[in-house]
Parts: sequence; C-alpha cells; structure tokens
Amino acid sequence: MKKAIVLAGGTGTRLRPLTDVVCKQLLPIYDKPMLHYPLATLMLLGIKDILIITTPKDLSAIQDNLGDGSELGINIQYKTQNAPRGLPEAFIIGEDFINNEPVCLILGDNILYWGQLNLLWNECLSVQNGAYIVGTHTKEPERFGIIECDRNNKVLSLTEKPTNPKSNIAAIGLYFYDHQVVDFAKQLKPSQRGELEITDLNNIYLNKGTLKAKFLSRGTTWLDAGTVNSLMDASNFFKIIEDRQGLKICCIEEVSYNMGYISRNQLLKLAQKFSGSNYGKYLEQRAKNNDTE
Ligand code: DAU
Repeated sequence: MKKAIVLAGGTGTRLRPLTDVVCKQLLPIYDKPMLHYPLATLMLLGIKDILIITTPKDLSAIQDNLGDGSELGINIQYKTQNAPRGLPEAFIIGEDFINNEPVCLILGDNILYWGQLNLLWNECLSVQNGAYIVGTHTKEPERFGIIECDRNNKVLSLTEKPTNPKSNIAAIGLYFYDHQVVDFAKQLKPSQRGELEITDLNNIYLNKGTLKAKFLSRGTTWLDAGTVNSLMDASNFFKIIEDRQGLKICCIEEVSYNMGYISRNQLLKLAQKFSGSNYGKYLEQRAKNNDTE
C-alpha cells in the first residue's frame, strides 16, 4: 500500500474556544502540532503518498505548515470537505487520488505511540482483497466503534457507539482498504445522526467475509485528544517520554531522515528553518549523531 488519506476536517466543537482560533488538528500536543503524529505514523509505515482532507477554512493553515511534503521527501496533496458528512466521504472526495488502488485512512486526531512497528502491519499494508481495522482496549466503549471478536480474533460484529457494548475493543481511527472502498463508500446512506458511518462501510466488508482486525499490543498507546483534558493528558504523556529519553516522538523531520526519505544535508537544512528553537537544535543534533535508535 503506497497511499493514505489523513482526514483532518470537522468542527472541533468540543474544544471551543481553542478551535475558534486554530483547527483541532493543529493544536499542540506537547511540542508539535497534533497532525504531525498521524503523519509520522504513516511515514513510519512507509507510506509517502498522502492526501490531507480538511475544511475550506483550515486548508491554508495546514498547507502553510506542511506544504507539498517535498522538504520531508514525501508527496502531500490537499482536498477539502465542505461539511462533516462522515468519515467515508474521504474516499469519495479522494477518488482521483486513490485511482483504484488500495488505500489507508487515518484520522487527523489519532495519536499513536508505537512500542514497536512489527510485521503485523505488513499484512495490513499488502491487503488486496478486503479491509483491516485496528482495535485496542478502551474503558469507554460507548464512545467508539466497537469490535466483537471470537477466540481466534475473527470479527463477529461492529457497532458504532453502542449503548450495550459487546466488548471493550475500540476501533481506532486507522483503516486499510482494498481498491473497492470508493464504490462501497458511494453505496452508503447517512445514519440517524446524518453522517456516512465508517462502521457501515466496514460492515460491508464484514458481510462479504473480507474484514479482518489487528490489535495494538500493550506496548502501543492510542491517545485521544477530543476533550480539553485528554488534550492535556496527551501533551503530558509525550512530555514525560521525551524529557526522559531526550528523543522526540513523531518528529516528522527526524522520521523522514531515519526512514531514508531525506539526506543528512536536507535534515540540517530543516534544522536551520527552526533555528533559535530547541526543536531546531534537536534536529541539528540528530543530523550530527550517527546513532540509530
Ligand atoms: O477515533 C476512532 C473513532 O472515530 C472510531 O472508533 C469510530 O468508529 C468512528 O466513527 C470515529 O468516531 P468519532 O465519532 O469519534 O468521530 P468524529 O466524528 O469525532 O470524527 C473523527 C475526526 O474526523 C474528527 O477529528 C473530525 C474528523 N471528521 C469527522 C467527520 C464526521 C472529518 O474530518 N470529517 C467528517 O465528516
């Protein structure tokens, strides 16, 4: 899988008045904008062809921050969604970008701290016929899409924000689809809350017997920044890890260098862009350091 869509629209209502000045996905998570975390996840998965979908209002701010991706050795394109009509609309908006190929979707507010990226992901990344969703334990199953599985991790049912949850496994905002996803998204009808639902899309794959689930190991953390408190918690989480290790998490410039997308000189150039800041100093130090963590 070479392509991914980052869905970074929505109204950010629950985070007002913060989101009156800047969109949710550009709010800081400790020392960098939230959007850098899902972007780093995609880059670490080896995906370099990326479509960011945002609102017409927030497009220029996101474009100012990330540009066309060339500085990071990746390709970033942009499209807008006029109103939050649901997650699967990303595939309809992104039809030309997808161009009948498999595609990954990550939500712009999905923050992951990977213990280790292992071979598990190769299966998801090489899906040709079907789809993969990703699950993890949650204390609040009423807030998410919930995955019910049998003992062999075969998916039995998927329910969006159930009042009587059948499990404590939430579907995180990271999905992998084959080329059929655009056609299936076009078949969906809005739910009672007036949106196209990702769970309905995944249920199409489930009914065809081609939906599989992968589960995050306990060493991987999925953070939610949907409320002011969880935003603060996510910042504190990364502050603790970064302070302790002296290494940054989801630093897109460093990820790009470590993945071989840019050269040492290009990283040094990026460090200069941030000169006068600790972030710039950090990039410079990473460029001069031969360690590979
Ligand atoms: O975070 C994982 C959950 O995301 C899944 O467990 C659920 O199954 C899935 O439906 C979704 O649930 P939410 O109700 O939490 O999604 P929300 O409406 O908050 O949208 C998630 C992000 O996507 C949010 O940052 C705004 C953005 N968004 C949302 C919609 C509906 C868009 O950019 N466009 C949209 O049309």
